[in-house]
Amino acid sequence: MMTGIVKVKPLCSYFGECGGCTYQDLAYEDELWIKESELKKLFCEELEVSNEIFLPIVPSPEPYFYRSRLDLSLRRVQGQLRLGFTRKGTRRHVPIESCSIARPEINAFMPLLEKAALEKIPSKYRSANLVVKTDNEGKIHWGGIGRRSLKLSESDYFWTEIEGKRIFYSLDSFFQANLAILPKVAQSIRSLLNLDKETHLLDLYAGVGLFWAAFAEEVKSAWAIEESKDSCEIAEFNKCYHKFDHVHLIFGKTEDFLSEVLSSLGNDRKVAIVDPPRKGLSPTALQRLKIAKELNRLVYISCQPQSLLRDLKEFRSSGWEIDQIIPFDFFPRTDHLEVAARLHPNH
Ligand SMILES: C[S@@+](CC[C@H](N)C(=O)[O-])C[C@H]1O[C@@H](n2cnc3c(N)ncnc32)[C@H](O)[C@@H]1O
Repeated sequence: MMTGIVKVKPLCSYFGECGGCTYQDLAYEDELWIKESELKKLFCEELEVSNEIFLPIVPSPEPYFYRSRLDLSLRRVQGQLRLGFTRKGTRRHVPIESCSIARPEINAFMPLLEKAALEKIPSKYRSANLVVKTDNEGKIHWGGIGRRSLKLSESDYFWTEIEGKRIFYSLDSFFQANLAILPKVAQSIRSLLNLDKETHLLDLYAGVGLFWAAFAEEVKSAWAIEESKDSCEIAEFNKCYHKFDHVHLIFGKTEDFLSEVLSSLGNDRKVAIVDPPRKGLSPTALQRLKIAKELNRLVYISCQPQSLLRDLKEFRSSGWEIDQIIPFDFFPRTDHLEVAARLHPNH
């Protein structure tokens, strides 16, 4: 039990006002302790799992200046359009000039972004939602005003590297916003899956291919299912870049293609990564996954512990066992937590 949490001075002058951060007034180790103990308490009580199945929380290498993506809004304040955040849970616009959890490249770009957006926004627009991203190279692109403004050409794609493997992403597709923690995440997820050359990997809700790209060389084949056309386009680029002929990309919904993929793989060992959006699995996807007992292991990754908990209860009641849980602090200073849970079918 940790005692004596002391308050520290928040780094950001907007702390408490913009609503994005919760823990800037605590030391990082205290924030980690709070997140980890709240998760354990919730899961032990609600799921009746033992404390021993939790591995220690994986901290972010950077507690500040880590976000490679910001969602900003341009709104009229006293007659003038200003760049800012929409306060969480409200429609209130909080003008900002910098963000202490965004990467330095994004902060340096903020004045130019405001200027460029003001030049581009049609006079009849009262507001606009903007996305700005950066990458390992410090490249910056933004979009949000006008049709196809989030579309990048291949030569402009962002990239990050995990264990020397380059993974490309764009403005119009989902990609994890804390690049520095990804190598540690890949290591942990690999250890949960226990991959080898006899194993087929199913990467469900695959995005542009973060996980299959990191693990493809270690498995017999990989099967990615993703419903966003924009993400699939970049996934195809990632597959070609690495010349991964044994990676199969499926454009569609997990719930529609899962059983077909599983039955095509016969009796070989199969493991799955399931990484749905915040709301968790749809009733149909959950139904299809619960009966997928040909899977040797399933690692469910979630950015919303409440929806993870709801879905894990469903798996449990259908005879799956949860034997390991790892929290990852993807978003220091905020109240968000990423969690991976490993499940085995109980035959
Ligand atoms: C949290 S993201 C994870 C992406 C990827 N695993 C990563 O870490 O970069 C969830 C992804 O699921 C996709 N998605 C949402 N519903 C889906 C469905 N029913 N079937 C397949 N993909 C879906 C979204 O487009 C998004 O790319």
